[in-house]
Amino acid sequence: MLRVDIISVVPDLLLSPLGHSILKRAQERSLIEIQVHNLRDHTPYRHGQVDDYPFGGGAGMVMMPEPLAVLIEKLQEERRYDEIIYMTPDGALFQQQTANRLSMKEAIIIICGHYKGIDERIRERYVTMEISIGDYVLSGGELAAAVVVDAVGRLIPGVLNDETSALFDSFQDGLLAPPVYTRPAEWRGASVPAVLLSGDPLKVDSWRHDEALKRTEQRRPDLLDDEFFGKT
Ligand code: ADE
Repeated sequence: MLRVDIISVVPDLLLSPLGHSILKRAQERSLIEIQVHNLRDHTPYRHGQVDDYPFGGGAGMVMMPEPLAVLIEKLQEERRYDEIIYMTPDGALFQQQTANRLSMKEAIIIICGHYKGIDERIRERYVTMEISIGDYVLSGGELAAAVVVDAVGRLIPGVLNDETSALFDSFQDGLLAPPVYTRPAEWRGASVPAVLLSGDPLKVDSWRHDEALKRTEQRRPDLLDDEFFGKT
């Protein structure tokens, strides 16, 4: 069971991504518990204020430290957290290995930034891990947090069944996944590779491994470098 507390100023952005399909079922079966907190409900300032102008000037607003500290400390009184994660484009790049590791934790907090980000003193005092989902800037951390929770949630034992098992995902063995086919075997003049219809599981496995390797060499040769394997 993984408990995830997400801190946001736009909690509605998270409702749909976390409320359907596999993550919905995982929550119903108590394999993961996700609580989304509206930071405005915890600010000591009037009118739900959570951001202010940056010292030194410049465009955009900065999320104030006190509302974040109040909410983080309230959560910490309720349970021990393994990680306090801040979603930010200057964080460490999110990879399958990061998801594997987070899926084994018991409780994590994810802070979604908005505007120009959060006051640096919160990062120094509370944050234990900073994650970016890629080299581009989103308008807030919510969509990035949804990506992380989705990738982590499906790895929790019991969330996926044998047919959807994460063991053979792209990246899980350091390779991209091989191509897949379904019925009909003959479609608009294009046929499915004969080996997949052979009924010989050893041949199928060996074909899939060859195709995975070929695809990785063609599209992501960087994944085949020793240096990359096991990174993060
Ligand atoms: N917030 C804004 N952009 C982001 C990114 N690329 N990754 C994580 N959090 C973000």
